[in-house]
Amino acid sequence: SSQKEVTVEGKKYPTDSWMNTPSTILSAIPRRLHTQPDHPLTITRQLIESRFPGYRTHNNLFPIVTTHQNFDSLGFPQDHVGRSKTDTYYLNANTVLRTHTSAHQADTFRKDEADGFLISADVYRRDAIDRSHYPVFHQMEGARTWDRRLAEKQGKTLAQLIWDDVERIPKHSVEVSDPNPTIHPERNPLQDGHAADETEAIAAHLKRSLEDVVVAIFNAAKSATADAAASEELLKIRWVEAYFPFTSPSWELEVFWQGDWLEVLGSGIVQQSILNNAGVPHRVGWAFGLGLERIAMLLYGIPDIRLFWSTDARFLGQFSASAAPKRFVPFSKYPACFKDVSFWLRSSSSAAGGASPPLTASTGAGFHENDVMEIAREVCGDVAEDVRLTDEFVHPKTGRRSMCYRVNYRHLERTLTNDETNDLHERFRRELVDKLGVELR
Ligand code: PHE
Repeated sequence: SSQKEVTVEGKKYPTDSWMNTPSTILSAIPRRLHTQPDHPLTITRQLIESRFPGYRTHNNLFPIVTTHQNFDSLGFPQDHVGRSKTDTYYLNANTVLRTHTSAHQADTFRKDEADGFLISADVYRRDAIDRSHYPVFHQMEGARTWDRRLAEKQGKTLAQLIWDDVERIPKHSVEVSDPNPTIHPERNPLQDGHAADETEAIAAHLKRSLEDVVVAIFNAAKSATADAAASEELLKIRWVEAYFPFTSPSWELEVFWQGDWLEVLGSGIVQQSILNNAGVPHRVGWAFGLGLERIAMLLYGIPDIRLFWSTDARFLGQFSASAAPKRFVPFSKYPACFKDVSFWLRSSSSAAGGASPPLTASTGAGFHENDVMEIAREVCGDVAEDVRLTDEFVHPKTGRRSMCYRVNYRHLERTLTNDETNDLHERFRRELVDKLGVELR
């Protein structure tokens, strides 16, 4: 667009060639679902917060941040994919909609001398369209640090001080699989300046704290369901090794839920450079980031992530902060309508006649699948339940690539007419041509 600046809640931002944030995305900012009374995300947040007594909570941090906050302060390398315009919403070269709550870690370590904090907020990512992905979702960041000088003052080692705190976390009797060593020299290394016994103690505190959260959620979910068979299902959780630029070692927690391992959070020992740069070099500790929608879907049995944005009383009326959680009862499943669109990409510069590369999100000629997703969102809004690649091939003679996407059109609150669906699909096809320069087949 030709606009040279954009105003969001009274704040002005200059825009430049990096600007890729549609107004539909900006219009989500004032919603603040995680602070709406009786909203399932608010109730879920409060349930988790209640497992971290004494931690300071932050629920109103503004979502527009600098690339320094979102990436540099966390040690993201310059060429990290997360920085690309296909994955992240930019207002200008230095300004993004935060892609994770970790964007506020460094500032919070600097400002907030509390031992523990929890930050809940809306985050923004260009991503696929399906029932568990939405370009705006909510995360909770948690961190707990210890001041080395306190251990000294108390005449203990730091590891002892932390183990004493581990003992204060409620115990549970759920089976946890954690087969990997806390520290692995290549895959999950100890940081310079951290002793192994300190890292073991911090890891134990982190894992015990987060297992306590998951067990609390699962117990609430169990009492929310009237279905005896479902409530008999055993909770199984496992820790797996992970990698983040801003923690080491790092782990993810997965929950076995209705037949699948579901990743619910990322975590690890905070990179000491972040604490040093934040002016608290004497502190060491852990951090985690979890997806609130994932947890709320598990807690209430909410089947589609779009529902969180519903203002329909048939949705909102089912949740109350003052009563024990009850399982969500879908108010109706309106009919789905599937429509395909096939197109040729603009001819790619890559040589014709080669073997067809495997299906990928980014596939030459500047094409990225997230751009198709963005157009579907722009044209169809929440009526696009799912958009997926169903076919892809390279023409053996011309070397041109053909793609076929299938859109599932379904309104959450009513039945769509044929005319409406046809109209949406026709506009979607035209926008693909206008914005991506593809040739419809
Ligand atoms: N920010 C990470 C994500 O969004 C999660 C995370 C937070 C991992 C804190 C480690 C520590 O995936």
